[in-house]
Amino acid sequence: MSEREASEQERAQALAARFREVFGDEPQFIARAPGRVNLIGEHTDYNGGFVLPAAIDRTILIAAREAPGAREIDMYSLNYKNRTSFNPARIEKADDRASSWSNYVRGVAWALGDTGLLDPARLPGAQFAIEGNVPTGSGLSSSAAIEVASALAFARLAGVEIDRVELALACQRAENSFVGVKSGIMDQFISALGRPDSALLIDTRSLEYEIVPLGLEEMGYKLVVADSAVPRSLITSAYNERTRECAEAVRTLSPSLGLGEGAQLRDITLDQLQANRELLSDTLYRRARHVIGENERTLEAAALMREGLSQGDHLRRFGDLLYASHASLRDDYEVSSDKLDLLVELAANTPGVAGARMTGAGFGGCTVNIVQASALDDFARAVVAEYRQRTGLDGKMYVCQAVEGGSYLG
Ligand code: GLA
Repeated sequence: MSEREASEQERAQALAARFREVFGDEPQFIARAPGRVNLIGEHTDYNGGFVLPAAIDRTILIAAREAPGAREIDMYSLNYKNRTSFNPARIEKADDRASSWSNYVRGVAWALGDTGLLDPARLPGAQFAIEGNVPTGSGLSSSAAIEVASALAFARLAGVEIDRVELALACQRAENSFVGVKSGIMDQFISALGRPDSALLIDTRSLEYEIVPLGLEEMGYKLVVADSAVPRSLITSAYNERTRECAEAVRTLSPSLGLGEGAQLRDITLDQLQANRELLSDTLYRRARHVIGENERTLEAAALMREGLSQGDHLRRFGDLLYASHASLRDDYEVSSDKLDLLVELAANTPGVAGARMTGAGFGGCTVNIVQASALDDFARAVVAEYRQRTGLDGKMYVCQAVEGGSYLG
C-alpha cells in the first residue's frame, strides 16, 4: 500500500519553516496548484475535442514574500535543492541544467506579460520557496501545477485577480512557447479550475466546462493511479508528431468534406471518416479514428456520470469506456507501452476493478483505475506487486481524491 502522505497543511508548515531558513523571514502567502488525472478524453485537446480530467491531491506549493528594494525573483526549490533567480524585466531561460526546473516559473512570468495579463517588469522583487509532491515525469502534470501555482503567486504580487481561464491559457503559452512543448490546454485548465470530488468536462474549443461530480466515494469506490515507473518526457516523445499527424489528417479530408480553415478532427464524424478512408494512409486513418471515437466516449462517460454511476449498469458501461479508450490509444494512436498495457491487463483481471486505462500523454507514466475501496489491498497485490515482480520496476499506486484547483493558503 502507499505510504501515508503528509497532509497539505503539514507540508505548508514545513515549507514555511524552510522559507525562514533560506530567506530569514516569514512567507506572506502560499500559492498551491494540483496535478491531475484524466479520466477519459486522451489526445483530444489539441483537436478541439472533449476531456474529462480531475485535479488530484498531489500539489505544488509556492511560499512567497515580496522583497522590497530587490529586482529579482529569487527562487529555492526544496525538491531540487537548487537556488536560482531571474530579473522579471528581462526574462531569460535558466542557463544551467540544475536550474531548468525554474523555466516553468520564468516562462509563466513571460507569458503573463505576453498575454497582457500583467506587466512582469513592474513586479516587485520577491522570494519563492517551492515544494511539490506531484511525481515528476509520470504524466500527472507536475509542470501544469508549477505553472498555475507560479501564475497565482505573480498575480498576488502584482495585486491583480486573473480570470482562471485566462490564467490557464497563459500557463499553456508558457509551456508551448517558453518551455517548448506543444501541449493542449487540458492540464493547465484542470489545475486552475478543478473542483473537489468532481471532474470537469471541458470543451477544449470553446473552453466552456461543466462540473461533473464523481460520486465514487458514496458508491464505495476510489480513484487509483498506478505508476509504471517508466518516466516519459513529452519533449522527446512522439507527442509533437501526433499533433502533426492529426493536423495532416484534417488537411487531407477537408476539401472532400467542405471544411474550411481552422477545421479540426472535432468537426469530423466517424461516418465521414469511414466514407473517406481511402484518402488517408492507414496510420493517419487510425490516428483520426482514435480522436473521433475518443470524443464520443468522453461525452458518453460524462453523461453516465451526470446521471450517476450508481444508476443501472452505468458503472459497468463507464468501465467499458475506459477499457475501450485504452485499446484505442494502444492500437490506433500507438501511445501506450507494454508496461502500461500490463498494468491495465492486470487491473482488468482483478475483482473489484471497474475500469482502467493509461492516462496523460502516454509513452510511460500512469494508468487510472476505478477500484472498490474494499479491494484496494487486492489491487496492491494483484496489480502493483505483480507488476513489480514481472518487470523489476518500482511500480507504485496513489489513491487519489479530487480536489480544488489552484488557490492560496494564507
Ligand atoms: C499531455 C498534454 C495534454 C494532453 C495530454 C493527452 O498531458 O499536456 O494537453 O494533450 O497529454 O491527452
